[in-house]
Amino acid sequence: MNYQQSIFLKRRSCRKFTDEQIDPNQVKAIVEAGLLAPTSMNRRPCQFTLVDDKELLEKLSQCKPHGADLIAGCALAVVVSANPSVSDVWVEDASIASSYIQLQAESLGLGTCWVQVRNRMHDNENTSSEWVKDLLDMDGAEHVVSIIAIGHKDAPRPQASLDQLQWEKVHIGNWKEEQQS
Ligand SMILES: Cc1cc2nc3c(=O)[nH]c(=O)nc-3n(C[C@H](O)[C@H](O)[C@H](O)COP(=O)(O)O)c2cc1C
Repeated sequence: MNYQQSIFLKRRSCRKFTDEQIDPNQVKAIVEAGLLAPTSMNRRPCQFTLVDDKELLEKLSQCKPHGADLIAGCALAVVVSANPSVSDVWVEDASIASSYIQLQAESLGLGTCWVQVRNRMHDNENTSSEWVKDLLDMDGAEHVVSIIAIGHKDAPRPQASLDQLQWEKVHIGNWKEEQQS
């Protein structure tokens, strides 16, 4: 495999996008990736809410005080949510689907950034998830895990480097034997 071309190296979080819209066929391919993602016991607890309206994107960017501003400048936000009563591992399922969406978008040459919504607060009283659900009139049983912001990259970022991988976090078998050597 030619690793220099790998989407795993090329994918870097993109927080600045051009004004160009995303081709509808590409949007379809991105959604397909989310729907194709594996889920525990094939329960498929995830919902994908697409937002490309500028005003709504601007509002979504206010879902939490920090780290969501970039949504205002993207062409498409995919709100990934799940219903915990459908699967006890909805967080994992929604996270895998979010990653699939990111990698599919990267394979199409688009930039993405994961915006964390689960376990985040909009303000002192409201969770980011509840705030997003209210904004988009989503079903009350849903829990928003992430918002994947997607668009054409404004400026390409340097790709990741295999030289900087943290191999010390990889363990072969029993950790105890490793500590003795
Ligand atoms: C679970 C998760 C939550 C993240 N939340 C945010 C976020 O809220 N805002 C943001 O700008 N980036 C967010 N990121 C992007 C990370 O900051 C980024 O992936 C990390 O710094 C590594 O950089 P890279 O994606 O360019 O490799 C998140 C990434 C993950 C996987």
